Formats: sequence, C-alpha cells, structure tokens
Amino acid sequence: MSGHSSYNPTNPVAKWLDSRLPIMRFSKEHLMDFPTPKNLNYWWTFGAILAFMLVVQIATGIVLAMSYTPDAALAFDSVENIRRNVNYGRIIQATHAVGASMFFVAVYVHIGRGLYYGSYKEPREVLWILGVLIFVLMMATAFMGYVLPWGQMSFWAATVITNIFSAIPIIGDPLLQLLRGGFAVDNPTLKRFFSLHYLLPFVIAAVVALHIWALHVPGNNNPVGVEVKSSHDTVPFHPYITMKDLLAIVLFLIPFAWFVFFAPDILGHPDNYKPANPLITPAHIVPEWYFLPFYAILRAIDFDMWFISAKLGGVIFFGGSILVLFFVPWLDGSKTRSGTFRPLFKPFYWLFIFNFFLLTYLGAQLAVEPYSTLSKISTAYYFGYFLIILPIVSRIETPNPLPASISESVLGKGGS
Ligand code: HEM
Repeated sequence: MSGHSSYNPTNPVAKWLDSRLPIMRFSKEHLMDFPTPKNLNYWWTFGAILAFMLVVQIATGIVLAMSYTPDAALAFDSVENIRRNVNYGRIIQATHAVGASMFFVAVYVHIGRGLYYGSYKEPREVLWILGVLIFVLMMATAFMGYVLPWGQMSFWAATVITNIFSAIPIIGDPLLQLLRGGFAVDNPTLKRFFSLHYLLPFVIAAVVALHIWALHVPGNNNPVGVEVKSSHDTVPFHPYITMKDLLAIVLFLIPFAWFVFFAPDILGHPDNYKPANPLITPAHIVPEWYFLPFYAILRAIDFDMWFISAKLGGVIFFGGSILVLFFVPWLDGSKTRSGTFRPLFKPFYWLFIFNFFLLTYLGAQLAVEPYSTLSKISTAYYFGYFLIILPIVSRIETPNPLPASISESVLGKGGS
C-alpha cells in the first residue's frame, strides 16, 4: 500500500537532491504519510519497541566492545573491569544484558500478536517468514553473546548447545569442530563467537529492513483483520502512530530501567559470576529464560525412536519447533484473519500461550518426574497446535459474522 506522494520540495537544494536521490520523498512517504489503520491497538506498538531495542543493543554492544577482550584468559576479568572501573560501564553492561531479555519479551509479544490476529495470512506470508528468520538470528546472537563473559554458565551452555550438532549424522562432527574451532569449547570458540556476535545484529538490521519493506507493500493488518478499504480507515503514520509508539516505548522503558538500576543481575544465573572452569561442571546447566521453552522440547525426547537416537530425536524436535513457524501461513486455512471472530480457535490459542509458559517453567526444572512426563505432554501440544489443531479448526469452524459496520470499513461508514 503506497500513499499518494505529498512531497513537494520547494527550496532548490531539496529539489536538486530529490531528482538525484529521492531519500526525503521516500522518508515522507514511508515514515510520515504511510497510511496506517485507525483501529490498531497497543499490541501493534511492539514492532517499534523491537526496532528501538535493536538500536539499544547495537549501541551498548559497540561501547562494550571497546573494553571487552575476547580471550579465554582475559574475557571474564575484562567484563568485571567494565562493571567496576570503566566510566558508566556498570550501566552500559547492565543495559545490554537486561536488554537481551527485554528484546525477547517484546519479540514473544510481537509473535503472539501475529498468531492471534492472523497477521501471517495472505498477503503477509513473506513478512511473517522474514520475522521468523529474524527470530532465529536473534536466538543465535543471544546465545553467542551469553558465552562472551566466559563464566561457568557461558562455558557449559556453549558446551551443551554446540554438542547438539554432533547428533546430526555424517556432517555433525566436522560441523561441531568447525563451530568450536577445535575438539572442545576453548579460546577459538570464544573468538569466533565474539566475531559472529558482533556481525549478526547488523544482519538482523538488514532483515528488519526487508521485514518493514514487506510490511509496507500490503500495509498493516489490524485487530478486526479486515483490509482497510479507503482513506477513511487510515491515519498518517506521523504524528498518530509515531506518538503512540513513543508512549509505548516510554512505558516499556519503565520495567527495563527498573531491572537495570535495581536488579541488574536478577535475570542472570549466579554460576555465571564464577570464571569458566572446564574441570567443574555446574550441578544444573540451564540456558537463559528465553530459551527455556525450546530447551524443554529438546530434553523432552529422552527415548529412542526406531533408528533415531534420543539425542538426534531431541535435536529434530528442537529444530522442528522453530521450523514449523515458517509454515504457519499455510497450516492455518481460515479465511477469517482475526482470532476475535474465531470462537473455536480462541480457546486453543490461549491454551497454546499457557502451554508456552509451562514449557518455559519445565525447561528450568531437573529432568526428573513429573517434569519429564509433563514436558512430553507440553511438547506434544506445541506441535499438535500447529500441525493438527490449526489445520483442522481453521477448516471446520464457523466464524462469528462480522458486525455490519466492519464489513463496510474498519471503523464504519463515514469515519473521518
Ligand atoms: C528485531 C525484530 C523485529 C522487529 C524490529 C520488527 C519490526 C516490526 C514492525 C516495526 C512492524 C510494524 C508494527 C507492528 O505491527 O508492530 C512489524 C510487523 C510485523 N511483524 Fe515484526 N519485527 C521483528 C520481529 C518479528 C518476528 C520475530 C515476527 C514473527 C515471527 C514478526 C512478524 C511480524 C508481522 C506478521 C507483522 C505484521 C503485523 C500486522 O500488520 O498485523 N516480526 N514488525
């Protein structure tokens, strides 16, 4: 959806630039005039919050890298030095570490919004796929970032998670060695993780640009899921959405700042405040909270399936739990986009959300009963939701009829 261009440069310099590089015209059309549905609710502000978080992570990361040393003998102390001696180092380091968590809070809300309102449906499939790609890149970036302080949990998480690759037949072992830069997690691993951790956020930024591009072709979905029909249904992005997004960012900053200033370490694991020691394995290795649902799925497969070992099975389910997200636009066949009008879909959706929290909880527990059995049930629901429930429900349910005013236009006839 592209708005009618209202950019008419008057001064000669702007005219000169416009005929050579119409960057001001582009910004006016896409950042200011872009027609946005009037009825977006606050769940639609999380895209802007995510963009803001990406900038925060890149900015704080670049400053941290000025004092961080990617060497197994020095990394831990260099982070301590940042926290204790470098000017404002405590705040910058805490902002980056807490920021990773806040980034994931925002992305889970953003994905949950998309799943509820059917934002992945035609014509926004590519937008969704790019989003899932961003999510995968975010996970890789966060995982490698967590290794950099070279604490006990950094080291052992790196060991456990890279070890996953060894389950892949034939190429698994060479791949593992390539990733680690040797037979075990060591200095070469730290060096390559630092290099990639610095690189990937810029790759994410590039994919975000494509994501926004793919958004600006069909325009936003909206809470009722009916495409906007005329300019009566939209408002210009600036000042309406810019101000709303700004307010949401400020509100989001309140818990963010609270963590940074009052509980900067609460989201981390105490073992990571001990230097890495390859000779002592922590009693209970757990990833950061935002990986727990997927970690629970990985561990849920603790039994061999025919010729597939438990280890490979876990890896397949772990990979599959992300892979399945790419196919959601085709698994959900409902013609009605918004969950608001889908009576059968709604309870299954909320059960999915509950189940996701449950998986998070289970990922943090020891692999003993009753957690092992619960993890299997929870994993079954995760996959069942996408592969069985969505396809069936979307084909058998009778959506609630849309209120007459909505079928006319998003806000009703004659909206201003
Ligand atoms: C760094 C991460 C991301 C950034 C900066 C980002 C940015 C944005 C922005 C600015 C919007 C428009 C405003 C909004 O609808 O909230 C948007 C929309 C959207 N995003 Fe993302 N996004 C990110 C990750 C993701 C992920 C991981 C997914 C899905 C897996 C996703 C799926 C979508 C969809 C489907 C829409 C269209 C929403 C609609 O119009 O209904 N995004 N994104």
